[in-house]
Amino acid sequence: MSGSILVTGGAGYIGSHTTVALLERGFDVVIADDLSNSSEESIERVKALTGRHVDFEEVDLTDIDALRKVFASYPISGAIHFAGLKAVGESVEQPLRYYRNNLVSTMNLLDVMAEHEAWDLVFSSSATVYGDPEVLPIPEEAKTGATNPYGRTKLMIEEICQDAAAADPRWRISLLRYFNPVGAHASGDIGEDPTGHPNNLVPFVMQVAVGRRDKVMVFGDDYDTADGTGVRDYIHVLDLAAGHIAALDHLEDGCDVFNLGTGNGASVLDIIQTTAEVSGQEIPYEVAPRRAGDIATSLADPTRANEKLEWRADRGLEVMLRDAWKWQSKNPWGFNPPPEAD
Ligand code: UD1
Repeated sequence: MSGSILVTGGAGYIGSHTTVALLERGFDVVIADDLSNSSEESIERVKALTGRHVDFEEVDLTDIDALRKVFASYPISGAIHFAGLKAVGESVEQPLRYYRNNLVSTMNLLDVMAEHEAWDLVFSSSATVYGDPEVLPIPEEAKTGATNPYGRTKLMIEEICQDAAAADPRWRISLLRYFNPVGAHASGDIGEDPTGHPNNLVPFVMQVAVGRRDKVMVFGDDYDTADGTGVRDYIHVLDLAAGHIAALDHLEDGCDVFNLGTGNGASVLDIIQTTAEVSGQEIPYEVAPRRAGDIATSLADPTRANEKLEWRADRGLEVMLRDAWKWQSKNPWGFNPPPEAD
């Protein structure tokens, strides 16, 4: 294998699981992360899990000189670009911060990769680029249109990558549109560790299960779905990590785009009930008003990735939530020590 893979945002949730998959496949990995929403402890856990060394550089990718130093220090042949700000509500309040951070860091990465003739790139996009979908399940050709600044950064970055690849045929880029990643490594040693109040459903439900929060607020039970609550295509983070390896293995000239999802939907109440079953904990919940900007149903058509990447997400909801619970029960406070008692 020639060269190392740069994993930006490699200390984060999806980045750390993908790093494990890369190391297990024999790749050398350099992580670049500013630790603004992640912990160096996750990198230590990745090393312990795999028995492999990982290089780590604490850099802010909006600093192009710092990024140039990373490329000057390691023989990087390609990158998986996870780093970015990702909180929808925050992006509405601080749009310029989101545009500056997510767009500038990606343009810096493309520039420095080109300077070093590292043309292989896999980018973390999101199903959020489909906005409120007109067709279900959603194929890659569906109309795009994000509904908030965070989503628009994903869409803009996709367009930047497509334009870069059209202008220089040496690029080999894969844009991966993730549906809803959940779960954790089966060891329970790495997992999702949101700072503060979790915005996403599964981390919130896990914090209720482990006793950190009283109850789940179900955002609306009057959607046009089987039980009235929102339906999403949850995908195990290990299947998602495998999707990145498949994308690297199948990179072709130009820029291609893939949905990474299972094609199966689960409602908010399905998540609560299955978590109660796999954890043996009671999960109190209360129905609350709809959350602004939410859609009824999001479901991937993963056929293209199944065929072209020879990849399939096959872990079911029980495995996803059992593994999420293993992580949460083993690490009730994530990568942090428990807060001191008063
Ligand atoms: C959210 C983001 C999306 C982002 C994705 C991954 C919004 C509007 N969308 O997607 O842009 O790419 O996370 O980070 O924030 N729910 C509750 N109670 C909760 C939390 C969520 O009932 O406390 C419901 C939601 O209404 C939804 C489902 O659970 O029906 C899943 O929500 P969430 O985990 O936040 O994911 P998305 O909204 O799909």
